[in-house]
Amino acid sequence: MKDKICLVTGATSGIGYEAALDLARRGATVVLTARDKARGEAAREAILQATGAKAELLTCDLADLASVRAAAAEFKTRHDRLHVLLNNAGVWHRARRVTKDGLEETFQANHLGPFLLTTLLLDVLKASAPARIVNVSSALHYRGRLNWDDLQMEKRFDGTKAYSDSKLANVLFTRALAGRLTGTGVTVNAVHPGVIATSLSRDMPAFIRALLPFVLSTPAKGAQPLVRLAAGADVEGVTGRYFDKLKEKKAAAFALDDTAAARLWKVSVELASADKS
Ligand SMILES: NC(=O)c1ccc[n+]([C@@H]2O[C@H](COP(=O)([O-])OP(=O)(O)OC[C@H]3O[C@@H](n4cnc5c(N)ncnc54)[C@H](OP(=O)(O)O)[C@@H]3O)[C@@H](O)[C@H]2O)c1
Repeated sequence: MKDKICLVTGATSGIGYEAALDLARRGATVVLTARDKARGEAAREAILQATGAKAELLTCDLADLASVRAAAAEFKTRHDRLHVLLNNAGVWHRARRVTKDGLEETFQANHLGPFLLTTLLLDVLKASAPARIVNVSSALHYRGRLNWDDLQMEKRFDGTKAYSDSKLANVLFTRALAGRLTGTGVTVNAVHPGVIATSLSRDMPAFIRALLPFVLSTPAKGAQPLVRLAAGADVEGVTGRYFDKLKEKKAAAFALDDTAAARLWKVSVELASADKS
């Protein structure tokens, strides 16, 4: 990965931190994004100490459209190449939260923010081809069902449904984007990293959180499928697929619906451009 530039979102902790560390160990320049500057700086410093590789920080709140636009613009002032975009950041909330853009936070942080960031960086990815995009979805996408009449879950909110729907959106986005990127040398795949003990469970009851490290895999293990899709020679040219850890798997029937993928794209463009900043 020497001379490769890799942007990893949600690199302050968990799977994203471990993936960035691994890519840095392979010689890549890693650009870590974080919504909190202090947490991002701590991760950057730790990766720098561990690897000596080039590690940069880019502040980006994926649940804030203006922040995503600013981050994409800032990235382009620093670099004219991007070889790997790892859309890893994600949240799970027990209660409904509304962002300053007026959208439900799980939908915005897990789908709309990454959608906007990716589309804003497509020009630089194409200019860097061969380049790869990795979207971190989840096996919970099999439980997702997009309710087009209430995408923001104003009528009825359920944290796990919001999360599952956002992860279904990740696979729909992956497939639609792969189609649009045909012939560009830029690939895009979605991946379930496994069930991993991370801070994703921070909003869960304390007794569940206390148990998780004993029964779940480590973040370093969860990072392996992401790094493989970002850097592995065996998946060169592979695009539009869904992987369960290291194995390709058929995504949910709802995720294979091209009409839904096109509709989600259209809705996402409309929602993302509602921000005028
Ligand atoms: N853990 C699992 O079992 C599992 C299973 C399937 C899929 N996944 C997926 O794996 C990915 C990584 O999650 P994880 O398990 O490693 O959880 P994690 O340790 O909580 O990491 C999530 C990362 O996302 C960042 N983030 C959250 N909201 C953000 C926002 N609005 N803007 C920018 N960054 C934001 C967090 O930053 P802060 O430091 O600011 O909070 C953190 O760096 C997620 O997409 C998750 O859905 C995880």
